[in-house]
Amino acid sequence: MNTYLSGIQSSGLLHLGNWFGAMRPHIELQDLDGEHFYFIADYHALTTSRDPDALKENVREAAVAYLAMGLNPDRVTFWRQSDVPEVTEVAWMLSCVTGMGLFERAHSYKDKIAQGVKPNVGLFTYPALMAADILAFDPTLVPVGADQKQHVEMTQDMAASFNAAFDAEVFRRPEPLIETDDRRAKVVGTDGKKMSKSYGNTIWMFETGKKLKKVVNQITTDSRPPEEAKDPASVLLFRFLELFLEPVELAEWEGRVREGGVDAPGYGHLKTRLIDLIEETFREGRERREELLGDPGEVDRVLAAGAERARERATTVRNRALGACGLR
Ligand code: ADP
Ligand code: TRP
Repeated sequence: MNTYLSGIQSSGLLHLGNWFGAMRPHIELQDLDGEHFYFIADYHALTTSRDPDALKENVREAAVAYLAMGLNPDRVTFWRQSDVPEVTEVAWMLSCVTGMGLFERAHSYKDKIAQGVKPNVGLFTYPALMAADILAFDPTLVPVGADQKQHVEMTQDMAASFNAAFDAEVFRRPEPLIETDDRRAKVVGTDGKKMSKSYGNTIWMFETGKKLKKVVNQITTDSRPPEEAKDPASVLLFRFLELFLEPVELAEWEGRVREGGVDAPGYGHLKTRLIDLIEETFREGRERREELLGDPGEVDRVLAAGAERARERATTVRNRALGACGLR
């Protein structure tokens, strides 16, 4: 039987990349046999957040989005990371057996630096906290987006280093579980780069109406006229449509664009279809989100119950680690 665990950082409104790369697979997995642990990584968000109200708001937004889209708290232990402070103790123990070189090799850290982010120590040691988040719950599988795979591999290394250092089987080796559909593992943004908050090219999953129209209009196109025959691979809009459309309808649109001529759809037609698809896919979730925002007590209850269960589990593993290294 597998134990699934994953986290999502709460640092803003969740976009289509977060949905297809992380949230959707998480929610789908809950129906499989086994145990399921999902949490909102607010300690991690603190590596960049300097606004206390926004941090709280973002935790609520992430919790509401998961619940609105169908996360079932009866099947999944769902909590806020900072409600289980034992993970920071485990992170410390792991960082004491980890060489600097491991952290220096982290892509996500190097990317942030390349983007001009001024690094703090928390950002640098982020992988140790992430490893602790994982190892404190003994999961077998960690479903994450492709960009997080290296962090899970670092987790495997840290677990092995700790076990070897203290000659004890304290931490169990988890495996990453990566979305295999490439389109969904790496959703593109409105400018054609990877969709990411840090690039300002995102589409909020619950966007609707005029604002949705405006952001869809920002998807990069070119000045080729509708009647010109085009390779669908050269039309960025198809990278979005293929996330939502059934293969038959997708092939039909692609065929018409490839052929060109007077009946070929222009970019405007493709945009209109995309807007409908986004509105339709998230309609129920959007309504449920509104209800949940109006009933904060319900969300608090779910997170509190999840935290209690999660804390019990993490405490057991934390105690095992303290015992192994001589701190108890
Ligand atoms: P961002 O890049 O916007 O800051 P995060 O790093 O907070 O997003 O990612 C949260 C989760 O969403 C991670 O599991 C990550 O793998 C997934 N994710 C983020 N962007 C994308 C994307 N463009 N395509 C697929 N998955 C993504
Ligand atoms: N680093 C992940 C992200 O940016 C969030 C995360 C934190 C996580 N701890 C984790 C994911 C543990 C899986 C397991 O989205």
